[in-house]
Amino acid sequence: MSQLETPLFDALLKHRNRQPIQFHIPGHKKGQGMDPAFREFVGDNVLSIDLINIAPLDDLHSPKGVIKEAQKLAAEAFGADHTFFSIQGTSGAIMTMILTVVGPGDKIIVPRNVHKSTMSAIVLAGAIPIFIAPEIDTEYGISHGISAESVERALNTYPDAKAVLVINPTYYGFAADLKKIVDVAHERSVPVIVDEAHGVHIKFHDELPISAMEAGADMAATSVHKLGGSMTQSSVLNVREGLVSINRIQSVFSMLTTTSTSYPILASLDCARRQLAVNGHELIDESIRLAKDARKRINKIPHLKCAGREKLNSSATYDMDPTKLLISVKDLGITGHQAEEWLRQNANIEVELSDLYNILCIITLGDTKKEVNLLINALQRMSQAFDSEASIVESLVRVPDIPALAMSPRNAFYSQTEMMPLKDSAGYICSEFIMVYPPGIPIFIPGEIITEENIKYIQMNIDAGLPVQGPEDPSLKTIRVIKERKPIF
Ligand SMILES: Cc1ncc(COP(=O)(O)O)c(C=O)c1O
Repeated sequence: MSQLETPLFDALLKHRNRQPIQFHIPGHKKGQGMDPAFREFVGDNVLSIDLINIAPLDDLHSPKGVIKEAQKLAAEAFGADHTFFSIQGTSGAIMTMILTVVGPGDKIIVPRNVHKSTMSAIVLAGAIPIFIAPEIDTEYGISHGISAESVERALNTYPDAKAVLVINPTYYGFAADLKKIVDVAHERSVPVIVDEAHGVHIKFHDELPISAMEAGADMAATSVHKLGGSMTQSSVLNVREGLVSINRIQSVFSMLTTTSTSYPILASLDCARRQLAVNGHELIDESIRLAKDARKRINKIPHLKCAGREKLNSSATYDMDPTKLLISVKDLGITGHQAEEWLRQNANIEVELSDLYNILCIITLGDTKKEVNLLINALQRMSQAFDSEASIVESLVRVPDIPALAMSPRNAFYSQTEMMPLKDSAGYICSEFIMVYPPGIPIFIPGEIITEENIKYIQMNIDAGLPVQGPEDPSLKTIRVIKERKPIF
C-alpha cells in the first residue's frame, strides 16, 4: 500500500455510502436519535461514521482488516516495526508501555518530572520508580530532560532495572541526547520507552530533534492529536521489536482500552498519518519558518524573552523544537498567569500554558503568518501596557531533595491514611503527590518518607507565594500520611 492511501477512512466512507440499516450501537443511528441542536451543529457527516466494530470495519482489539492496514502504513511512516492506534491519548499509550515492561516489585528508571499517567501506571503495576532528577533551567524556571550520564549512573546503581523512561521532547520542546541514552540502556539489554507526547512531527523534518524510533528506542507513546493534525485523544504507540513483545503489548493495550472505540478518532489518525507522510516536511517547514520569525520578533520586544538554541548546552538539553515559543514575561513584572489572562481579555488569544514566569505558545501545521502577526502585535501591546512595572526579576527556582521510598506507590495508594499537621509530619510516609511550580517537580509521591528538609522546602515556597499543587488540603497546613499502627498494650 502507498502512503497516499487511507484504508480505514476509505472503509468508513464505503460503508456509509452503502447506507446499511443499522440495528447496532451507537443508538443515535447516524444522528437520527440525537438531540437535534447537537446534531445540526456537528453535522451528519461525522455522525454517519460514528460506528462500531462490525466486521467490515475491523476491531482495534484484534485488528485483521482495515485497522491493521492503517496501523501498518503508520508504522512505515514513523519508522517503527509496529504501530498501535490509541483512542485514549498518549496517557493510555504510556500506561500500556509501562504495564508491558514492569510488574510488581520491578524497578523502572524515570525522570522525576513525569506526566501523571506514568505515575498512575507505576501504581497499577506495583513497580518501584527509581527517579532521576531532571536538569533545571533557572533562567526560565522550568525542568528539562535527563542526561545520558545520569541514566548511566542509575543503570550502574540499579543493574536490575527493567526499563528506562525518557520524555522526548519535553512540553517546552527541549530534547535530551536520546540516541546516547538508548545506547547506554541497550548495552545492558534494558528497553527504553519514550513519552513522545510532544513529538509526533519530529520524524518528518530534519531540523527537529531525533524521534524515538530513529534513536532506536523500543517503544514510544506519541500524541498525534497534539501536533500532528488528528482529533483530540488520538495517539500512536510505536514499537521496535527485540526487547519487547508485540503480543504482550497488544494484550496490555487491550486490557486498558474501551471496547467502544471511536471510529471518527481512528479515521482522523489514518488521515493525519497520510498528511504527515506525504506533505509533513513541507508543512512543518513552514511552521518552523513562522516560529523562527516569531522568536526573532519577540526577542526584540522590550522585557520579553523567547528561549532558543542558546539554551542547548548539555546532554539533557541537546536539541530543541523551534516551533515551541517559550516566552518569559517575568521582567515585565507580571506572572505568566497574568500574561495569559491579559492576552485573553485584550487580544482574544489563548496560549498553550502559563506558569509563574512564562507563557508557552505553539506554532503548528494549522498556523499562518496572520496568526503569528496577531500574537506579536498583542505581545507588543502587552509589553507597553506593563512597561512602568518592568524590572529584572530573579527567578526563585530551587530543587527539592528526592526523599527515600519506604513502600511502593501502589502499597501507599492502598494503605489506610490520615491527615496530620505538615509541621509534625517528618518521619511519616506521604500518601499524596505534592509539587511546586516552578519547576513542576514532585516534592513527594505516595510512599516517600517526609523529611524536615522537604517540609522546609515546601514552607519556603509557600512563603514566596509559589503555587503548590496536588495536596488534598490546598493550604498545606495538613498532609495525608500513611496511618501509623500503634502498639497495643
Ligand atoms: C509530557 C506529557 N506526557 C503525556 C501526556 C499525555 O498525553 P495525552 O493528553 O495525549 O494523553 C502529556 C499531556 O499533556 C504530556 O505533557
